[in-house]
Amino acid sequence: MMFHLRFVFIPLFIILQLSVIEFVNGGFSVNLIHKKPSASSLLLQNTPQSKTNAYLGHYLMELSFGTPPVKIYGIADTGSDLTWTQCVPCIDCYKQLNPLFDPTKSSTYSNISCQSDKCSHWLDTGVCSSQNQCNYTYAYASASVTRGVLAQDTVTFTSPSGNPISLPGIAFGCGHNDTGSFNDHEMGIIGLGGGPISLISQIGPSIGGTKFSQCLVPFHTDVSITSKISFGDGSEVIGDGVVSTTMVSKEDKTPYFVTLNGLSVGDKYLPFDSSSNTVAKGNMFLDSGTPPTILPNKLYEELVDEVKKSVALTPIVNDPELGNQLCYRTSTNVNAPIITAHFEGGDVKLNNVQTFITPKDGVFCLGFTNTSSDGGIYGNFAQSNYLIGFDLDKHTVSFKPVDCTNQQ
Ligand SMILES: *[C@@H]1O[C@H](CO)[C@@H](O)[C@H](O)[C@H]1NC(C)=O
Ligand SMILES: *[C@@H]1O[C@H](CO)[C@@H](O)[C@H](O)[C@H]1NC(C)=O
Ligand SMILES: *[C@@H]1O[C@H](CO)[C@@H](O)[C@H](O)[C@H]1NC(C)=O
Ligand SMILES: *[C@@H]1O[C@H](CO)[C@@H](O)[C@H](O)[C@H]1NC(C)=O
Repeated sequence: MMFHLRFVFIPLFIILQLSVIEFVNGGFSVNLIHKKPSASSLLLQNTPQSKTNAYLGHYLMELSFGTPPVKIYGIADTGSDLTWTQCVPCIDCYKQLNPLFDPTKSSTYSNISCQSDKCSHWLDTGVCSSQNQCNYTYAYASASVTRGVLAQDTVTFTSPSGNPISLPGIAFGCGHNDTGSFNDHEMGIIGLGGGPISLISQIGPSIGGTKFSQCLVPFHTDVSITSKISFGDGSEVIGDGVVSTTMVSKEDKTPYFVTLNGLSVGDKYLPFDSSSNTVAKGNMFLDSGTPPTILPNKLYEELVDEVKKSVALTPIVNDPELGNQLCYRTSTNVNAPIITAHFEGGDVKLNNVQTFITPKDGVFCLGFTNTSSDGGIYGNFAQSNYLIGFDLDKHTVSFKPVDCTNQQ
């Protein structure tokens, strides 16, 4: 897919429902409910560039648009900026179970004109309509596309304990023509990237800081277990065991770029690029929308070789469903060494729960894959069981090992 670079990031694939549960000094936390995707959608052989259909599962976040508020369940995605939902009138939408958002029923809804700053951000991929309305097109690497009009309305984060927080004038996309690998529970995407129009950039100034932290439950977690994502003041990742790395600023403001010096499999250190003495700053970005961690071909091969050497099982070969990925036939998770991600500024240790996933019964596969590009993506399997803080004010990403299944 050759989209504008800014848009070439995939939505994610594990279902979490988020609802606000508490407020701390203007910041607030949201519950994450993990839903297991269907086993048949768990295969990793596609690279993001070729990804077409349901991949793994999504993390759903609950919020409401409009007055009176209408609940929206959107895929939480740190790899993109635009928050959008399917809207009436639908020109060409995918099937969704809940009713579409109807702008005419919201007293606080307004269109964004082509002269608005918010619109100028999008006009490179959209057009100004004859009604002076900001039409947008937003495409993802998964080949999903949403087209519609840029609008603004009040966004409400709903609290099970009855404490709603409402923020007026949040820009979002009213999607009228949406296609792609969405299931019927997904009403759009919540853009949590670092660009000016992302949800966190828009709400940050009202909630004590442009920062948030997420805790993703590991892939195999029972669906009844919840975890949290917190926004604004109080969401800082602090205390024992925290390591922080610098967010590397690039022209593309959306992805959270960080610098990975190398990986270790047990004690065996693998530099990010063994043919060079220096490491390119910002060679990886964190994406809650990408399940596997994606590495440049050479590093990926070195990683796979090391893992093979240290696992006393025979890799599965010739299973077309599994493709090239490294998989083992075993009823319990693979007994593999810890894989350490050596970020600039600190090490993040990953155990089997974060490095192996089971795409089908009795099979465990390494949750990493390869790309021909020079940089990689730190995916959501590897992000699980870490409280990860994204502080856009301080330009840091912080990691704290936490049992995300036990956050209540
Ligand atoms: C938004 O623009 C559409 C036309 O593009 C128009 O039909 C609708 O009435 C406008 N809504 C508001 C609230 O101005
Ligand atoms: C703008 O978007 C609206 C709604 O999606 C559509 O009806 C209209 O044709 C679009 N206008 C242009 C010029 O693309
Ligand atoms: C909907 O979007 C697709 C591309 O995603 C485009 O080919 C098609 O023409 C659009 N349909 C309408 C009615 O605008
Ligand atoms: C990934 O590695 C395999 C060999 O292991 C290779 O055939 C494939 O082309 C690589 N994919 C990309 C996107 O480079």
